[in-house]
Amino acid sequence: MPLTKANITPRQIALITALLLALPEAIFLLWLQQSWQWALLTLLVVFGASYWIIATLLEEFINRKIKLIYKFIHKTKATKKEETYYKYVLPAKTLEDVSQDVEEWANENEKEMQLLRQNEQFRREFLQNLSHEFRTPIFAIQGYVETLLDGAITDPQVNRRYLENASRNIDRLTTLLTDLDQISKLERGELVLVRQPFVIQELVKEVFESLAGKAEKQQMHFVIKKDSESPLTVNADKEKIRQVLLNLVENAIKYGKTNGNVTASMYRTDGQHVLVEVTDDGMGIPEKELTRIFERFYRTEEGRTRDSKGSGLGLAICKHIIEAHGETIHVRSTEQVGTTIGFTLSTR
Ligand SMILES: Nc1ncnc2c1ncn2[C@@H]1O[C@H](COP(=O)(O)OP(=O)(O)O)[C@@H](O)[C@H]1O
Ligand SMILES: [Mg+2]
Repeated sequence: MPLTKANITPRQIALITALLLALPEAIFLLWLQQSWQWALLTLLVVFGASYWIIATLLEEFINRKIKLIYKFIHKTKATKKEETYYKYVLPAKTLEDVSQDVEEWANENEKEMQLLRQNEQFRREFLQNLSHEFRTPIFAIQGYVETLLDGAITDPQVNRRYLENASRNIDRLTTLLTDLDQISKLERGELVLVRQPFVIQELVKEVFESLAGKAEKQQMHFVIKKDSESPLTVNADKEKIRQVLLNLVENAIKYGKTNGNVTASMYRTDGQHVLVEVTDDGMGIPEKELTRIFERFYRTEEGRTRDSKGSGLGLAICKHIIEAHGETIHVRSTEQVGTTIGFTLSTR
């Protein structure tokens, strides 16, 4: 390796300095006394002594500085283990090793900073969405109540309708709060799963029954796919999975088409998993929005127009629940053709 300024070692510095000290002295002695024995002896003694002193001091000095850097990086007072590390491992490190360690540490720190910045951005957006979602129904309620107080209350033509409208917006606020409560519990990891074996087809039928009224209003039909009828037992938190199915089927009704079908299918994928899918033949989701619908508050433009009451939290909650089970949820959709949202469950 060529001796450049960048990678010169403390020993090399000591060697050069010791030579520079010893050589002129020996030459001077040789010239003064004309005795090469004395000159050689001086050369050896001065060289040896200064090399030893310089090398020791320099290494000691550098190690002390490096120790300081490591302490700074680890941000702690040295523990017993680290003391051993500083004493025996660290001195064996070259300056290059140290600079690599520092570089790694800097990269790590940069990554951490990035994550923090991202979280900050997330929080800001979340608050913004939150106040937006709350503002709409509250302003609507305010409007209806003020109009009523201003005299509309005695007008039999409108008073009941205004009260009903206000009540609908209160419902929306309640849904929003319930969803928010749920999602924050999920994100804090406070909801514990209570797994139990159950037949998935039975749960699907129960969900279909509880939403039969809503489907009827849209003249929609619930279907269980032909080859999905033989009972499959899964091991999962039944009530949470009920919630997932409720939201998926509700979405299928809301964003499906009048007189359309909501189809549930269940397959065994391998020995350990079952795939559950809810399909509609409705308006579909634009391709560029497919990856975003699982985000909190995210709703497509068409979705908002179709149904003003949703919170955009339903699919985010579904994703949390499915991922808490260690499973996955996914979407396939074509505009004007329909949407399929599917998730996996474990059989054991
Ligand atoms: N079956 C579906 N067909 C079309 N779009 C859907 C469907 N399911 C969900 N979406 C879109 O995804 C968005 C998010 O759904 P979700 O989180 O359940 O919120 P919400 O039901 O309150 O609108 C919806 O607003 C809608 O734009
Ligand atoms: Mg929904």
